[in-house]
Amino acid sequence: RDLSCRRVIAAGRGEQAEGEGAMSEGLSPQDLEKRAVGEAAATHVADGMVIGLGTGSTVKFFAEALGARIAGGLKVRALPTSEASIDLAQRYDIPLIDWSVTTSLDLCVDGADEVSPDLSMIKGGGGALLWEKIVASAAAKRIYIADSSKLVARLGAFPLPVEVVRFGHQTTAERLAEHCPDVALRATPDGPFVTDSGHFIYDCRMGAIDDPAALDRALGAIPGVVETGLFVGMVDMLIAVRDGEAATIEGPDGVWWG
Ligand code: A5P
Repeated sequence: RDLSCRRVIAAGRGEQAEGEGAMSEGLSPQDLEKRAVGEAAATHVADGMVIGLGTGSTVKFFAEALGARIAGGLKVRALPTSEASIDLAQRYDIPLIDWSVTTSLDLCVDGADEVSPDLSMIKGGGGALLWEKIVASAAAKRIYIADSSKLVARLGAFPLPVEVVRFGHQTTAERLAEHCPDVALRATPDGPFVTDSGHFIYDCRMGAIDDPAALDRALGAIPGVVETGLFVGMVDMLIAVRDGEAATIEGPDGVWWG
């Protein structure tokens, strides 16, 4: 048990101990959970490691905690999972490398949008699913970090992101619609959202996903689909929040929700 994490989460409920007020100021209860799991993940980084640096608001707290350890002398190099992840590394002085340096990662730490009891996940809410999956697949160990809102009985309430090439994306969307009742091109005020690899994303409101692996295979077989946000069989360790504490599990046996 990481008691410091527990205290930090408790602080968000107005139970803060003396001296913790400034540290927790301005953070919502959800952000306090994100910080707790991010800080817990940073303790798993060892000297000399090459790590994959995930993307998102939960990973931001991991990067912050890792940056503090680096400032204290820890030697780490990181491969980013998005342009946003590059910005994060630069913000916290985490040294970056690219694939020309190495293709072997010791560890990858990333967030999740949904995690089901079999530890399947939906990712890609931030649009970084493709790089995230490439980086995770090259890592010897993958740690995912999630606040309690991400733990679901069944995947699918969160719209499933599917990255597609721009050419013929309208026909690719029609094929996606054969599997999903509600398919929407992700948009920004300036037009379609474009991924770091120059692709579009369709968000597929599935409602419920009974067989994530089968759906991943079916969607992945559609011409034009580059990658789906279904991450199946990729969690080596999950750090999530249980009863207000950062809790670590290394397989479905340890799951407490669902
Ligand atoms: C980025 O594309 C995503 O896969 C993120 O890892 C995921 O959306 C979690 O993001 P938050 O930590 O911001 O919820």
